[in-house]
Amino acid sequence: MPDTSLDTVPPIPDFPLSREPGKPFDPPLEVLQRSKSEQLFPVRIWDGSTPWLVTGYEAIRALFTDARASVDDRKPGYPHWNEGMHSTGQKRPRSVFTSDAEEHTFYRRMLSKPFTCRRVEALREAVQKITDDHIDAILAGPQPADLVEKFALPIPSLVISRLLGVPYEDAEFFQEQSSMGLNRYATAEDTAKGAGALAKYLKGLLEKKMDDPAEDLVSDLAERVKAEEISLREAAQLATGILIAGHETTGGQIAVSIVALLENPDQLALLRDTDDPKVIATAAEELLRYCSIIQTGQRRIATEDIEVGGVTIRAGDGIILDVAPANWDIRQFPFPDQLRLDRDEGPNVAFGYGRHSCVGQQLARMELQISLPTLLRRIPTLKLTIPRDELLFKHDALSYGLYELPVTW
Ligand code: HEM
Repeated sequence: MPDTSLDTVPPIPDFPLSREPGKPFDPPLEVLQRSKSEQLFPVRIWDGSTPWLVTGYEAIRALFTDARASVDDRKPGYPHWNEGMHSTGQKRPRSVFTSDAEEHTFYRRMLSKPFTCRRVEALREAVQKITDDHIDAILAGPQPADLVEKFALPIPSLVISRLLGVPYEDAEFFQEQSSMGLNRYATAEDTAKGAGALAKYLKGLLEKKMDDPAEDLVSDLAERVKAEEISLREAAQLATGILIAGHETTGGQIAVSIVALLENPDQLALLRDTDDPKVIATAAEELLRYCSIIQTGQRRIATEDIEVGGVTIRAGDGIILDVAPANWDIRQFPFPDQLRLDRDEGPNVAFGYGRHSCVGQQLARMELQISLPTLLRRIPTLKLTIPRDELLFKHDALSYGLYELPVTW
């Protein structure tokens, strides 16, 4: 139990219990006490454990860079997302997501080559072409069109397939498997099944690339397996992580950004009517902050006592770093609920911060910077076919997004 001498907060509202897509869900955590810090407080999560929920911008940045906040999900007391992650945690090979310090550097180095600015920039033309082709197909097709299926999801899926060297014909298979594992309510069986199927598939691909390499991430990893730097199992785990982290997130971000822009026509016009790369880059940052699609908190466990935001997190306490409220922290971002595409109030934490910050952030930024203005320019009359409140948001997934985005023009 976190150490805190605090007032009790009013009871949180009762949410209807539901597992249906797009419907409100049972609260994933229960606020226990208001802490004397405004930046973090203790909560109770699904397994009855009581980690700290960190919502303040300053505290989250301090903890993201604190080596005493470990990502090792095998440690007792680690605040797992759900039962599936908990029960498969011990068996999963270590990877970039779950290793600390030198071990983390070892895995992260394996991924650095494909995500260098040079390799990401080299994809720019391809991303523009993929975007244009998808818009051509939308314009040629029937109305209404679902922008999740026809735009937001296939663009990052194609890009990540290309970067990894995964044949796009297999995209449907990997989308299905990764959604299964990323569901907030995934059971141990779902997680093991989803991740297991992907890892098996990627092992096969790694073996193929060992004999027939190309200029892609799976070939880079295959080369390291051949050189006996990592095992085939570890390489498959790393590639699975990239595949899962790389398309569902960016797809969700594109879809939710479109809704945010349609709801703010003056801001939409700013992005549609500029070709200044700096203005577009600033706008994409604001959409990342405003939408903050990673909504269930990055997990850590304290290996020593940590003083932060005026309280002491004790060694062994779980920590949940919730980037969404931190990105809406009024002390850093005045009027946080307003979308202001020219905001200039410092970096947001949509991609985390510090040594575990998102490997794919340059790629994701580029995809947003290309896909959104291109869509707005080429289909300037775009509009939703149903009221915003009827949209099916992914309340039940670890990263926010939409199940469908029906539009006409
Ligand atoms: C809008 C899209 C995306 C968002 C909002 C996002 C968000 C994040 C966040 C918050 C973290 C930090 C995890 C932590 O500190 O615990 C992270 C890590 C990571 N992301 Fe992303 N991500 C996105 C797209 C991508 C893409 C496109 C890729 C790969 C192609 C990717 C690969 C990764 C990897 C491998 C890590 C782990 C890094 C490490 O632990 O060292 N992400 N991401």
